[in-house]
Amino acid sequence: MGKKPWDGRFSQDTDAMVERFTSSIDVDKELYAYDIEGSIAHLTMLAHGGIITEDEAAALREGLGRVKEKISNNELEFSDTLEDIHMHVESALGDEAGNVARKLHTGRSRNDQVALDARMYLKAETLAIIEGLFALQKVLVEMAEKHKDVVMPGYTHMQRAQPVLFAHHLMAYYEMFKRDRERMEDSLKRTDVMPLGSAALAGTTFPLNRELTRKLLGFAKVSDNSMDSVSDRDFSMEFISAASICMIHLSRFSEELVLWSSSEFAFITISDAFTTGSSIMPQKKNPDVAELVRGKTARVVGNLMAIITLMKSLPLAYNRDMQEDKEPLFDTVNTLKACVDIYTRMLPNIKVNKETMLEASQHGFLNATDLADYLVVKGVPFREAHSISGKSVAYALENNKELHDLTVDEFKKFSDLIDSDVFEFLSIEKMISRRVTHGGTGYDNVQQAIKQAEQDLKRAE
Ligand code: ARG
Repeated sequence: MGKKPWDGRFSQDTDAMVERFTSSIDVDKELYAYDIEGSIAHLTMLAHGGIITEDEAAALREGLGRVKEKISNNELEFSDTLEDIHMHVESALGDEAGNVARKLHTGRSRNDQVALDARMYLKAETLAIIEGLFALQKVLVEMAEKHKDVVMPGYTHMQRAQPVLFAHHLMAYYEMFKRDRERMEDSLKRTDVMPLGSAALAGTTFPLNRELTRKLLGFAKVSDNSMDSVSDRDFSMEFISAASICMIHLSRFSEELVLWSSSEFAFITISDAFTTGSSIMPQKKNPDVAELVRGKTARVVGNLMAIITLMKSLPLAYNRDMQEDKEPLFDTVNTLKACVDIYTRMLPNIKVNKETMLEASQHGFLNATDLADYLVVKGVPFREAHSISGKSVAYALENNKELHDLTVDEFKKFSDLIDSDVFEFLSIEKMISRRVTHGGTGYDNVQQAIKQAEQDLKRAE
């Protein structure tokens, strides 16, 4: 330890403060398994092309195996002197395998090495997140199916608007998470590109078989431009932006769960296991999980700002600034995974207060649009019907009634065309049933959407 790979050119030791300042080992040690796997593929390719001997490759492979074990057993001491995970692995390999370790870095730079490690890491994590999103979608569909007859007020401007099925509301989130999963799947295509062999920036003079390295590491393709390979982080930026959008969906859902579980709404009760109490107010039961997911959205969006600002204005090719890419990436992966997983566990632990939701759907003139529609069916132009319904609402408000509390005679003040059949027309059941346009909240539509989702999820298994 202590000796730097670049010491040939330097006559002074690195200042201790600089070592601390430039070190990234605290963060990038997370990549050790990928770093070693990448090195094994690299040395196998070097041996295959006769750039190192098979004996050397065997010694390096064995040594790297021991280094991996050491790190996973927490037996390797990390030090700022060795800067990052790449230099730690190489130095530990020297301790294990001796001088041959110095051949491993032939035709390679930490610049293509770190790009490789980050892509390997992100491939694995994106796949895990895709699985997590599948599980969340599944739980949502199960919940929608379980509560398929529950009616709730649908809102615009946070004001009661029209009745909807609770299942329809849940399936709206299903759609959002479906697109989130698709965005992850799509970004994966661009992460799944193998940069090793780009070396520092210009490629290398050694006859590297990059196609072999790609095959060994299971990448879909080899990168096509060495300068691009070592200097862009768009795969991270793309992942974090997809993650931010997903977190924003989770945050909106969280906001609703917080509202719905309040005494003011009382639409749902979140189980004790997923809430916490107050240290001072004995009656409290707080929706902390939802609140924290909402709060953690800020971190992920912050990570997005960090990485896109990091990359802005960086000239080609590698710049040390880019070492700062890992904290936002790792934090985004960890945060998103945790939030998706906790939602998947929490949702089945929510009790739905069907009666309260129904009661709320019957107050606040949620059937005013339907009264207008009723008149349209009887031949009144919609704008006129809207006005008649509006006047009926104003009258009902004045008299402290709902539209369905008015008598036929009262209705007739506003239109002769209103008869006693209006009451059935304005019932919740009929209002829901009539919304049969594709994507609407009609019972059959929602049932069909649930069936379709079940099939899609099964097909994707
Ligand atoms: N730790 C560095 C990073 O994360 C690795 C590449 C360093 N390359 C260099 N030439 N200093 O970006």
